[in-house]
Amino acid sequence: MTAPFVIAVDGPAASGKGTIATRLGAAYGLPVLDTGLLYRAVGVLALRAGADLDDEAAAAAVARGLSAGLLDDPEFRTRGAGEAASRVAVHPAVRAALLEMQQAFAAQAGGSVLDGRDIGTVIAPHAPAKLYVTASPQVRAERRWKQLAGEGVAYDEVLADIRRRDARDGGRENAPMRQADDAVLLDTSEMTIEQATDAARRIVEAARARWVNS
Ligand code: DC
Repeated sequence: MTAPFVIAVDGPAASGKGTIATRLGAAYGLPVLDTGLLYRAVGVLALRAGADLDDEAAAAAVARGLSAGLLDDPEFRTRGAGEAASRVAVHPAVRAALLEMQQAFAAQAGGSVLDGRDIGTVIAPHAPAKLYVTASPQVRAERRWKQLAGEGVAYDEVLADIRRRDARDGGRENAPMRQADDAVLLDTSEMTIEQATDAARRIVEAARARWVNS
C-alpha cells in the first residue's frame, strides 16, 4: 500500500464527471482537481493577452505562467472558455506545461481525485481507481444547456458544441481523451446524478479494497 489513493475520473464534456469527482472527494475526504479548469484558464488568459489560440508557443507560455491561485475566475466556467480550452488543449507544448502541476497534485501522500481527459492514461497511469464517465451527446448537451441557462444559448448550438468538442478532444489517434484499459466505464445517460454517484462509489469501493490489500 505504497502509492497514494488516487481516483482518476475521465470522460467527455458534460458527462457528469465533475460532479462525480467533487462528490467522491467529499465522501473520501480527498482534495479534488478539475483539470479542465487549467485548460480553460489557459484559453481565456491567452485570449485576454491577444494571442491566437492556434499559436502553440504563445499558448504554452501562458500555460507555464499559470498558478493554482489564478483559477477562481467565473469566466473560466463559460461556454466560450470551454471552446478556447479545447483549442489550446490540442497543443502538445500546452499539455507538457500543465503536466507537472497535475502530477504534483496526484502525488499528495494522502490521496486525491482528479477529473479530466487523460488522468488515467497520462497524468496518473498507476491510479488505483479509474473511472471513465460518459453519456450520449444528446443527454450531455441537455445537461450543459441547463447549466448555461444564463447565457441564452439554444440547445442545438450546445449539441453542436458538444459534438465539435468530442471530435477535437478525442477523435484522432493519440488524442488526449481515451479510456484507459483498466478504467471502469460508467455510462450515465439513463441515470440521475445521485444514481451515477452511487455507481461511482461502488466502483471506487471495489478499487479501494484491492488497493488496501495490495
Ligand atoms: O472538462 P472541461 O469541459 O472543463 O474541459 C475543457 C477542455 O479542456 C476540454 O474540451 C478538453 C480540455 N481538457 C483536456 O484536454 N485534458 C484535460 N485533462 C482536461 C480538459
